[in-house]
Amino acid sequence: MGLFGKKSSIGLDIGSGFVKIVEVDRSGGQPEVARVAVRPLLPDAIVEGEVMDPGLVADTVRSLFEDLGIKRRDVVTAVGGHDVIIKKIEMDRMKESDAREVIRWEAEQHVPFDIKSVELDFQILDPHGGGLQMEAILVAAKKELVDNKVALLAEAGLNPTVIDVDAFALHNAFEHNYPEAMEGIVALVNVGHDTTNVNLLEDGVPILTRDIPFGSRRVREGLQRERGLSADEAEDVIQGRVDFPDLHRFVERSAEEVAVGIERASAFLMTRQSGEGLGAVYLSGGGARIPGMMDALASRMNVETRQVNPFERTPVRPDAAVNLNLEEAAPMLLLPLGLALRA
Ligand SMILES: Nc1ncnc2c1ncn2[C@@H]1O[C@H](COP(=O)(O)OP(=O)(O)OP(=O)(O)O)[C@@H](O)[C@H]1O
Ligand SMILES: [Mg+2]
Repeated sequence: MGLFGKKSSIGLDIGSGFVKIVEVDRSGGQPEVARVAVRPLLPDAIVEGEVMDPGLVADTVRSLFEDLGIKRRDVVTAVGGHDVIIKKIEMDRMKESDAREVIRWEAEQHVPFDIKSVELDFQILDPHGGGLQMEAILVAAKKELVDNKVALLAEAGLNPTVIDVDAFALHNAFEHNYPEAMEGIVALVNVGHDTTNVNLLEDGVPILTRDIPFGSRRVREGLQRERGLSADEAEDVIQGRVDFPDLHRFVERSAEEVAVGIERASAFLMTRQSGEGLGAVYLSGGGARIPGMMDALASRMNVETRQVNPFERTPVRPDAAVNLNLEEAAPMLLLPLGLALRA
């Protein structure tokens, strides 16, 4: 032990649009980003989080590691999507070790899948509380989802040391960089290629997570279908390389969809006694970079809306970004950074 590299960890996020790697080094006083790389996936290799072509995805991941000359095989990765359930539950107060014994039975009441086919985990939210009941966050992921992920990584020559959950990795990196946002109620909204992940946090504790079936792909397809652009042309517009006078119409429509998703997810806040509503929206993901997206969402939601910079309080080494405009890619890197910080 103590060899160079042992104190660093690699977060690997296999999104439906891009594969992303962030390596964090902890040999100094605070975690530092030592390497960042992204690579696009071929269209339809992954659709709505479901891997349609595991061989192709494994090839993309393997070649990315090869091209970067990374010899390490250990990575931290995550699962997400419909086959992962995250729920805040109440249960009788007990020690964590005892809770671990009964969690499967407890989960049966909350998880709509066959309990034998899921991996379970949980965290007690108020371990030092006094009441007869305690709150916990329960996570259930279909075993098949986890097994498939491990198999895909094995095919890419990699070994996952930790399998996290997308929403928690986003939260983790967000908390690391925005400790001041751990007060009141905020929505962390990660707009990806296929999916938008909404994380509602109250005083830094996740109170609800939800996926909205919206991503930058929809904007691209709208431009293709309604304005006759090719996929590449539309992607250039979305990524801000080419101006398109009509883009704002598509962006407003998209912001509407995301806003409705956030409002639905946060509607229950109104029914609570405190009556405290959403204080701010923090936007991440590649979709947050679509020109005009943040402003459209801010004016539609009428809530303070900010773009998340994953490196707000995480130093990045000058040579970390490989063939990449770091400022441009930054919003996409919150999730893999959260993974790398986890290990
Ligand atoms: N400057 C940019 N560079 C790259 N992608 C961008 C840029 N601006 C906007 N985008 C959009 O962001 C998308 C990728 O975002 P992100 O990496 O967050 O999605 P993903 O994780 O691959 O998808 P998902 O989470 O939905 O599975 C791209 O498909 C692209 O359309
Ligand atoms: Mg993503």
